[in-house]
Amino acid sequence: MTIRRSAFLRNLALGLGASVLFAACGGGAPTADGGGEAAGDILKVATEPAFPPFEFQADGGELDGFDIDLMKAIGAEAGVEIQFESLPFDGIIPALQAGTVDAAISGMTITQERLNTVDFSRPYIKAGLAIAVKAEDTATTSLADLEGKRIAVQIGTTGADQAAEIPGAVISTFDSAPLALQELANGNVDAVINDAPVTLDAIASGNINGLKVVGELLTEEFYGIALPKGSPNVEVINTAFAALIENGTYTEIYQKWFGTEPPELPESAF
Ligand code: ARG
Repeated sequence: MTIRRSAFLRNLALGLGASVLFAACGGGAPTADGGGEAAGDILKVATEPAFPPFEFQADGGELDGFDIDLMKAIGAEAGVEIQFESLPFDGIIPALQAGTVDAAISGMTITQERLNTVDFSRPYIKAGLAIAVKAEDTATTSLADLEGKRIAVQIGTTGADQAAEIPGAVISTFDSAPLALQELANGNVDAVINDAPVTLDAIASGNINGLKVVGELLTEEFYGIALPKGSPNVEVINTAFAALIENGTYTEIYQKWFGTEPPELPESAF
């Protein structure tokens, strides 16, 4: 029951039923690019691994999750070795800018603001923000109810941006989404604004207790793999990603983590 309900909610959260055609954009066979060689044999990829089911540390400490599987598959397809590096979420874009990592996969939303400083691959999944409150809270049903309330968010996220726009809200920032959710479970804040699939997963898995998601999704967001501006690896990653869509690997990975067929994705986020 819990599991079925959670799969249902997660699908909702991932926007099952989007209307833009997916396979159609994979289209023509990509041509091998002439010069402008990319990363070489190793791609250093940053992630903030406390964001299940996208990235998390499994019991043995190794990285696991949808993003991790997808990035490994992209590496295998492109013939490059993926070396993951765990970083704080708000350190990822600075690391890309400094060139200390080659790419980042971290449930990162493609935003206009981020596009000023980094490039993104084409969207690889659709998500959106949701409000979480205590299970017994019947007064909070929408964004408007959060005016003047105490809200916890993960630092540097779109959830933090959204919370900052709420009049009179008192915002506490945390290094990870699970810490923000724990603060709510402990009763120290009134709500959390975070990516819906992650909050729903935390509730469904029992990692966090006594919380619920209320209202509609606040936003529709697409995650992309972030790269330094002008990186030749944008093309390398997009080409490999298109191949994974065509050959069914993307569907396989999606089904493994979300239990359903992937919805259609647009070719670009805006
Ligand atoms: N999608 C949100 C954003 O891009 C949150 C991402 C947080 N990711 C993570 N691995 N902690 O701002």
